[in-house]
Amino acid sequence: MPTLDTGKRALLLENIHPDATTRLVKAGYEVSTESRALGEDELISAAAGVSLLGIRSSTHVTERVIGALPDLLAVGAFCIGTNQVDLAAAATRGVAVFNAPFSNTRSVVELAVAEIISLARRLPEKNHQMHNGEWDKSARGSHEVRGRTLGIVGYGNIGTQLSVIAEALGMTVYFYDIADKLAIGNARRCSTLQELLESVETVTLHVDGRAGNRGFFGNEEFAMMRPRSLFLNLSRGFVVDHVALRRHIETGHIAGAAIDVFPNEPKGRGDEFVSELRGQPNVILTPHIGGSTEEAQQDIGEFVSGKLIDFAAGGATAMSVNMPGVALPAVAGTHRLVHLHKNVPGVLAAINRVLADHGVNVEGQLLRTRDEYGYVITDIGTSYSEEVLDELRAMDVTIRLRTIEND
Ligand code: NAI
Repeated sequence: MPTLDTGKRALLLENIHPDATTRLVKAGYEVSTESRALGEDELISAAAGVSLLGIRSSTHVTERVIGALPDLLAVGAFCIGTNQVDLAAAATRGVAVFNAPFSNTRSVVELAVAEIISLARRLPEKNHQMHNGEWDKSARGSHEVRGRTLGIVGYGNIGTQLSVIAEALGMTVYFYDIADKLAIGNARRCSTLQELLESVETVTLHVDGRAGNRGFFGNEEFAMMRPRSLFLNLSRGFVVDHVALRRHIETGHIAGAAIDVFPNEPKGRGDEFVSELRGQPNVILTPHIGGSTEEAQQDIGEFVSGKLIDFAAGGATAMSVNMPGVALPAVAGTHRLVHLHKNVPGVLAAINRVLADHGVNVEGQLLRTRDEYGYVITDIGTSYSEEVLDELRAMDVTIRLRTIEND
């Protein structure tokens, strides 16, 4: 029986939630942790011999890093964004990259709900007055949200979940999305942004960060909103023209706003926050904390470590950001061949020819392709020779072959 791949060392950087360590240890990994981000050289030496690497947003996993770590199987970005990882370089070497796209969805939704209610009750002003010793117990300009209209722009993970909770609060939800989306509950779809802006009292943006959304919401869009309406943006800073927003707040056309994301955000704690919106009345400003809760961090720790373990143990790439997505239930008592190759015609037939030539029977098999890569998982009986693996490795199209024992 051939020798199988067995490396079980993990390195987690940047204070990843301890639940990730617990889960990896339970799966048999020897885990080292580091509270800070590492530079290229430090990372290369700290990660030598490591098969699973966990980072957050500040560690850059460059082509040089990936090339210097031949044992590396997968990188877990314990956050949402993956710009800090050279995804193409990782794919070229068969290194799968995972992130946690939904772990903080609920946190963003809860902040949006809190802000919708706070703005409707003019809490920022009331709070400011109280801190200045002013007692103004008046109902003027304060409203319940029940029975009010909410317009959600971008009806994705966050938008749809907000839709459900807003309806539970008694709001009537309208939404606009450039893609066809199923209306959840009683939400009403608008066919244009203008229709939504003219229909609702509160507009909240939850669009994604595609390049085309730069400057998406400016003077024209604010002007279409109903007089005295409320505006929220918890999506991306570059989506909104803040100079235009300030003008509409100053004229009173917009009665309040809650902004969590900014075109230029300070790099670190202590750097000055500069914005046209500072000092405006009934405006809530938060430092990009929509998704920042302990629950979200814990969920990210659990979710990404699970993806890393499943990839290492069974080759599962479901939800990987750089590999074709494959998850094949294991056939007990077999060996698994995990083969990443160039996406050209005939590879599956070529793999199966090698197996057939050596009298090896296939017990289970699944192939998926994505862009220039193909990924096939094959379960075979345990009695085969090392030559089978040598021949598969020697195929022109092979990028990486791994062998795993199915329990
Ligand atoms: P998603 O990808 O599930 O949904 C985005 C939706 O916006 C999609 O349905 C898409 O079709 C739609 N869309 C894109 N451009 C549009 C346009 N111009 N007009 C109308 N619809 C448009 O994304 P998800 O997970 O719901 O996140 C939404 C946003 O929230 C993203 O920008 C994300 O970066 C941001 N976010 C912010 C956080 C924070 O801390 N404030 C934390 C997590 C996410």
